[in-house]
Amino acid sequence: MKKYLILYYSKTGNSKFIAEKLSKELGCDSKKIIPVIDSLAVLFLLSLMKTGIPTNISKKEIENYSEVIIVGPVWGGLLISPLRNTLKKCIRASKNIHFAVTCETKDEEKNNKYGYAKVLNKAKGLGAKFVQTTEAFSTSLVNVDNKAWSPKRSEKIKITEENFNAVLKSRLSDFAIKIKSFEEQQINFSGNKH
Ligand SMILES: Cc1cc2nc3c(=O)[nH]c(=O)nc-3n(C[C@H](O)[C@H](O)[C@H](O)COP(=O)(O)O)c2cc1C
Repeated sequence: MKKYLILYYSKTGNSKFIAEKLSKELGCDSKKIIPVIDSLAVLFLLSLMKTGIPTNISKKEIENYSEVIIVGPVWGGLLISPLRNTLKKCIRASKNIHFAVTCETKDEEKNNKYGYAKVLNKAKGLGAKFVQTTEAFSTSLVNVDNKAWSPKRSEKIKITEENFNAVLKSRLSDFAIKIKSFEEQQINFSGNKH
């Protein structure tokens, strides 16, 4: 069985960028989550209704891996529908999950209405004992104008090779370390049992 699988949903490329960097760092497979309907309006509505949407990811393929890393954006301070569906599939497959979001709100605003804290907590609540690690990658870390995300702001900041700075790099490698150290804890724990 392979160790890690990264599953990501991405509309404008930020989550794809982070997922691909992480896949290099962990040396593992990554796959894009494709919902059966990929319209922002439909997905947003389903996210508001706390409903998962069916996707191209099957429980069977998840079963080939021992841990899954899920990456995707925050929309309207919600756990978005394709991520909810993927989380549930991983839980049904009894897989340990590491869950990360990309977003625009800053760390200082993480507890606000549109902040990422609520979304990470939702994932933890849904995943019960399976969600082991969470992380957020905010575009504010590369954003120079320092304005918070609001529904009125239309321009979207993209994380690119050019602005993938030291702060984001170290957050990514810290996340990879947390993921790997979870595995080590498991080994130590089962080792201590004998
Ligand atoms: C419809 C929509 C709603 C969004 N809502 C939020 C939000 O509530 N909080 C936030 O921090 N960012 C929000 N954002 C910004 C995205 O989370 C951010 O740009 C993310 O990195 C996009 O990921 P992607 O490029 O992988 O699609 C929103 C973006 C869109 C398009």
